[in-house]
Amino acid sequence: MRSVSLDTITEVVTKTVEGAGDARLKEILSVLVRHLHQIVEEARLTHQEWEYAVNFLWRAGQISDDSRQEFILLSDVLGVSSTVDLVNSANNASESSVLGPFYVTDPPGLPVGGDMIQGQPGQPVLVEGVIRAPDGTPLPGAVLDIWQNADNGLYDVQEADRDGYNLRCRMITDDRGAYRFTTVRAKPYTVPDDGPVGDLLRATGRHPWRPAHIHFRISKDGYRELITELFDSEDRYVDEDAVFGVRESLVADYTLTNDADEAARHGLPTPYLKVVHDFMLAPKG
Ligand code: BEZ
Ligand code: FE
Repeated sequence: MRSVSLDTITEVVTKTVEGAGDARLKEILSVLVRHLHQIVEEARLTHQEWEYAVNFLWRAGQISDDSRQEFILLSDVLGVSSTVDLVNSANNASESSVLGPFYVTDPPGLPVGGDMIQGQPGQPVLVEGVIRAPDGTPLPGAVLDIWQNADNGLYDVQEADRDGYNLRCRMITDDRGAYRFTTVRAKPYTVPDDGPVGDLLRATGRHPWRPAHIHFRISKDGYRELITELFDSEDRYVDEDAVFGVRESLVADYTLTNDADEAARHGLPTPYLKVVHDFMLAPKG
């Protein structure tokens, strides 16, 4: 077709992706074209606005490098990452949540009951729970990668002068399916807001804060991997996460606890804070 109009352009462009050899690619591109055209039409986008949008994406590319992923951040603050999580989450497993940019592969091993505090400042917390199958059966041998920020609000990878790991570990559940570790209470922190995504947040009157959380990446042969977070119920940002990662089922209480024997076993002062949370994995297939 040589001539296109507003009535025909979506169909004309959609036809051009029909030759895609990959059926899934064809499906995704058709939906993409349809929605992109609809945005332009519905918002009656001007040339100037379109140019601004293209320049915004160009700036996102310019500020990105191996350790800064502005496009992922854009997806996060627009709720796209969380929508992908929600669309793909198994209904017979714990809810998933964003991975975030601070995950490091192959963190150092820590035995069940181990200490991640290592003398650093912060409020000591004992965190424990059981990894279970949907029917409640405990899962020994599940692998948990755990990471969080320190009392200064920073992840180890954000501290330029730090060598080595801090507040991250790999733990393998014991024969009762249990995990357990001592740590310091995580702090709320801001997503990077010195780039175009920060401009977007400011232009819409939004703040860049995420509520305090601990990240978990849990795997076990025969089960779907679970990437999730555990949030602090007392955090001031728990109802307004800048990246929409909070789910009611992932909000945990930090309970003031006075068990002298348990405190002694973990080298904790009394009283100490305790978080108990079980995670459920969905079988594969
Ligand atoms: C995080 O949880 O570490 C995070 C997630 C999304 C954007 C920035 C940080
Ligand atoms: Fe995080």
